[in-house]
Amino acid sequence: MKTAITEMFGIEHPIIQGGMHYVGFAEMAAAVSNAGGLGIITGLTQKSADDLANEIARCKDMTDKPFGVNITFLPTLNPPDYPAYVKAVIDGGVKIVETAGRNPAQVLPYLKDAGIKVIHKCTSVRHSLKAQEIGCDAVSVDGFECGGHPGEDDIPNMILLPRAADELEIPFVSSGGMADGRSLVASLAMGAQGMNMGTRFIATKEAPVHENVKAAIVAASELDTRLVMRPLRNTERVLTNDAVERLLEKEKALGADLKFEDIIEEVAGVYPRIMMEGDMDAGAWSCGMVAGLINDIPTCKELIDRIMSEADAIINKRLAGFMAA
Ligand SMILES: Cc1cc2nc3c(=O)[nH]c(=O)nc-3n(C[C@H](O)[C@H](O)[C@H](O)COP(=O)(O)O)c2cc1C
Repeated sequence: MKTAITEMFGIEHPIIQGGMHYVGFAEMAAAVSNAGGLGIITGLTQKSADDLANEIARCKDMTDKPFGVNITFLPTLNPPDYPAYVKAVIDGGVKIVETAGRNPAQVLPYLKDAGIKVIHKCTSVRHSLKAQEIGCDAVSVDGFECGGHPGEDDIPNMILLPRAADELEIPFVSSGGMADGRSLVASLAMGAQGMNMGTRFIATKEAPVHENVKAAIVAASELDTRLVMRPLRNTERVLTNDAVERLLEKEKALGADLKFEDIIEEVAGVYPRIMMEGDMDAGAWSCGMVAGLINDIPTCKELIDRIMSEADAIINKRLAGFMAA
């Protein structure tokens, strides 16, 4: 399939694996890129810019296909050394960056000077337009369904994607709730040029996370995610577990008085315990409603090939059949 996104990133299929904390290691990104999609290393999972440089080098050893690096701008008073991370990306010869969290104006000139294509992930039409205005090459439009941070507008992709299509001039991909060939065709129908997936890629053979995480996603239904940290205006969609229910009780009890310190035990530093040790009740971890559509643990190649053949059958048989009738 050829779209503005496959052309822009030099990939075979218009399918991107979004940056994911403690999931987006070199193994994940290389597996997706080798399968013809765009794999993305999560920059900030690496503890330092030097570690990121090593991770990029490791990924290059595993694939000669294009891959990207995610740079997430965190809402924190003590930000990581972003210029050093950006330098590691540029020096590592990476040609694609996914930004998220806040608009990337502070790093964009450096990325553009290095000839890097920037796809900015955001959750609203106004933020997408801002990304376009400051010179991003593409946008990843992340609907309310998404795992991770859906923003505070709560607009699902059925509305958000056509709204983005009506306003944007640069290409965009859908993100949030995407799992299969139906998702891809629906995204294309609504004006996207491809799709981004997070949760679906965690339940793959190559995802470098504990088997308990994959099993939890397969076992979960679309009813099993919760929104946490809404009172802090840092909403995150997570898979429910004991820690999450405890966190929600605290949110209810403290109301507008809730502070980050009150829930630190349930959210801070929990990713390594969950993703690496498989301690599934350690705290809140991002997961999309799309878990309800995930029933197996294929390889990335099996997954992407299946999505493309499903899309082909939907477009050329099912939909073409309706038109011919
Ligand atoms: C476990 C997990 C960790 C994530 N970490 C990040 C991150 O560090 N930075 C980021 O930009 N997005 C992050 N995301 C969001 C994904 O890149 C992607 O936008 C989202 O998962 C799409 O929704 P889906 O899960 O319904 O496919 C994360 C998602 C998950 C599930």
